[in-house]
Amino acid sequence: MKIVLGPASVELAKKISELNSIPIVPVASKSFPDGESYIRLEGNVQNEHVAIVQTTCAPQDSRLMQLAFMAAAAKTNGARRVTAVVPYLAYARQDKLFLQGENISIKTIAHMLGEAGIDALITVNIHQKNAFEMFPKQWTKKNLTAIPLLAEYFVKRGYAKAFALAPDKGAMYIAEQAQSVLQGEAGHLEKQRDRYTGQTSQTGKGLNVKGQTVIIFDDIISTGGTIVGAAKILKELGAAHVYTACVHGLLIGDAEKRILDAGVEEIVATDSVPSHVSKVSLAPLIAKALKALKSG
Ligand code: R5P
Repeated sequence: MKIVLGPASVELAKKISELNSIPIVPVASKSFPDGESYIRLEGNVQNEHVAIVQTTCAPQDSRLMQLAFMAAAAKTNGARRVTAVVPYLAYARQDKLFLQGENISIKTIAHMLGEAGIDALITVNIHQKNAFEMFPKQWTKKNLTAIPLLAEYFVKRGYAKAFALAPDKGAMYIAEQAQSVLQGEAGHLEKQRDRYTGQTSQTGKGLNVKGQTVIIFDDIISTGGTIVGAAKILKELGAAHVYTACVHGLLIGDAEKRILDAGVEEIVATDSVPSHVSKVSLAPLIAKALKALKSG
């Protein structure tokens, strides 16, 4: 196996290659003056199983094109098998038709990547498991979870027994995964979303967090609206300390400032989306999954 250093995830890809002692294939990439993407694999992939590590956070469209181009370049240059390691899988939130006239974006992406030559997919905390079903049946697909790693970060910081909160019922499985590491209580808020405006509203009925240290766990933090709303409710309910952890810290615009202004003491994310809040690396998780794939 060889690890292709996707331009969006070079550091993560290098860490994975070091952990598994797998050789790397560097990638030359650039954008043409008109915005089109160019990539070239700078290594021999003949007869190799290559794992392309490339997250697809913003600018997601060009990162998806780079991923497709790297897969096609691998196959064009003789790779036997291509596994895409895509920690943050863009468009997974549009996994069904919510309103008339829409398309199922993740299905379109799946077709595009399949045509480009990808045979297998490893992703991390995909937003909806349903999105996974849009990828070709013959692909090997793995959806890893980084929630235990995030919870371990807090245990190491001395927050064992903290309350694990999910911002909505659908994310309760995330809070439960965190709870199994933190060994405290877990619960969720209720969240409603207006499909036309995107506006959300939350309530904390029945939650008892008075005096507790609460960590809000989510798969994605995008605009931060969900965490800001949750933090306000937690403060009203008397929580002593509020932290937040997510797998994919997109942190669009002033999300970070708004979250901290809402009284959240720390934001912790993984290197799925590399930034200064990427305090937990996905490398051990992905390295283990690739090892299993290699020996399987
Ligand atoms: C939604 O269901 C997701 O799990 C996240 O809660 C959401 O994507 C976060 O978005 P934002 O940060 O914009 O509220």
